[in-house]
Amino acid sequence: METTPAQADAEALRIQRVAVIGTGVIGASWCATFLAHGLEVRATDPAPGAEDKLRAALAAMAPALAELGLSLAGAEARLRFEASPEAAAEGADLVQENAPERLDVKRELFALLDAAAPEHALLASSTSTIPVSAFQDAARRHPERIVLAHPFNPPHLIPLVEVGGGRATAEAAVARAMAFYRRIGKHPIRLKKEIRGHIANRLQFALWREAIHLVREGVADVADIDAAIAHGPGLRWALLGPFLNLHLSGGEGGIAALFEKPLWKEVEETAAELGPARPLSDEEKRRIAAGVAEEMARFAPRAMQESRDRVLIRLLGLKLNEKELP
Ligand SMILES: NC(=O)c1ccc[n+]([C@@H]2O[C@H](COP(=O)([O-])OP(=O)(O)OC[C@H]3O[C@@H](n4cnc5c(N)ncnc54)[C@H](O)[C@@H]3O)[C@@H](O)[C@H]2O)c1
Repeated sequence: METTPAQADAEALRIQRVAVIGTGVIGASWCATFLAHGLEVRATDPAPGAEDKLRAALAAMAPALAELGLSLAGAEARLRFEASPEAAAEGADLVQENAPERLDVKRELFALLDAAAPEHALLASSTSTIPVSAFQDAARRHPERIVLAHPFNPPHLIPLVEVGGGRATAEAAVARAMAFYRRIGKHPIRLKKEIRGHIANRLQFALWREAIHLVREGVADVADIDAAIAHGPGLRWALLGPFLNLHLSGGEGGIAALFEKPLWKEVEETAAELGPARPLSDEEKRRIAAGVAEEMARFAPRAMQESRDRVLIRLLGLKLNEKELP
C-alpha cells in the first residue's frame, strides 16, 4: 500500500530514539544532530575510549550548533553509550550505521541490527559508496526497512542527505526516512536508482579526476587549481547546482537557449577530452601533497578548519533567509 506524505510525516514524528552505530567522524556528528533535535541517542563504538572521545567531540561541536540556533544543553541526559550494536539497537526507532566503509563490516552489522532492532525501526546506513542491495540481504527478518541515508561531512552542519533503497527496500521506508531527515532540518534528496558513490560523491569524484589530470599535464600548480574552484565556480555552486547555473548562463532563453549556442558545442567537445581516471603514481601523490603543503604553510590547520566552519555557518544562515534560492 502507498504511504501518503502525511502518513510518512506522522510516522517520522514517532521516531524518538536513535541508535548510532560507530561514533567516528560521521557517527559523532550525527549524534550531535540527533541530540540537538531533542532525540534520545544510544551510541556504540568498539574503539577503546570511544565514549570519552564522543563526549569531547560533542562539546567541540556545541558552539557551531549554537550559531545555527541549536542547543546541546541538557543533551547529556539523553545520550547513553552502549557496549554493543545489539544493545544500542534495542528499543530504537531508527538506527544510523556509521561503521568503516567495508562491505563485510556492513553485512555483519546489518544482520545483527536487523535481529536486535524492534520490528518498526528503520535501519539507515551512512555509506558513502556502497549500494544498499550489497548488504541488505544479510538481514533475515526485515530487509525492507533498510535504507541509505548518506550525509555530507560534517552532518551537523551540511544539510544534504542522500536517501534511497535497495532491491528489497519498501517504498514506505524510503518515504519515512525522507520525512525524518527533513524533520531534523536536513535537505534529503531521493536516489531513484542505486549507483556506486550515489550522486554528490560522483560529482565530486568527476572534479577530483580532472583536477589530478590538470596537475599531471602541468596545466597549473595545485594552489591555482584550488583557487580556480574556491575563488571561482565554487562560490556559485554553494547556491545553485550545475543545471541551474547553466540556466542562468543561458541569458533570457535559459538552459534551452544555451544548448543551441555555439558555446555548448565547445562544452561538449571539451568534455569529451577530459582526463582519464588512473590511479596516482607515488611520484604524483608526492607532487600533489607537496603542492598542498605549500598552500598550507600560510595557515594553521585547526584555524583553517574553524574558519571554514565559521564561514559555512554564516552562509547557511544567509541561505535560510533567502527565499529566491532553492
Ligand atoms: N568521512 C566522511 O566524509 C564521510 C561522509 C559521509 C559518509 N561517510 C560514511 O560514514 C561511515 C563512517 O565513516 P567515518 O568517516 O566516520 O569513519 P571513521 O573511521 O571516522 O569511524 C568509523 C568508526 O566505526 C567504528 N567501528 C569499527 N568497527 C565497528 C563495528 N563493527 N561496529 C560499530 N562501529 C565500528 C570505529 O571504531 C570508528 O570509530 C562510512 O560508511 C563512510 O563511508 C563518511
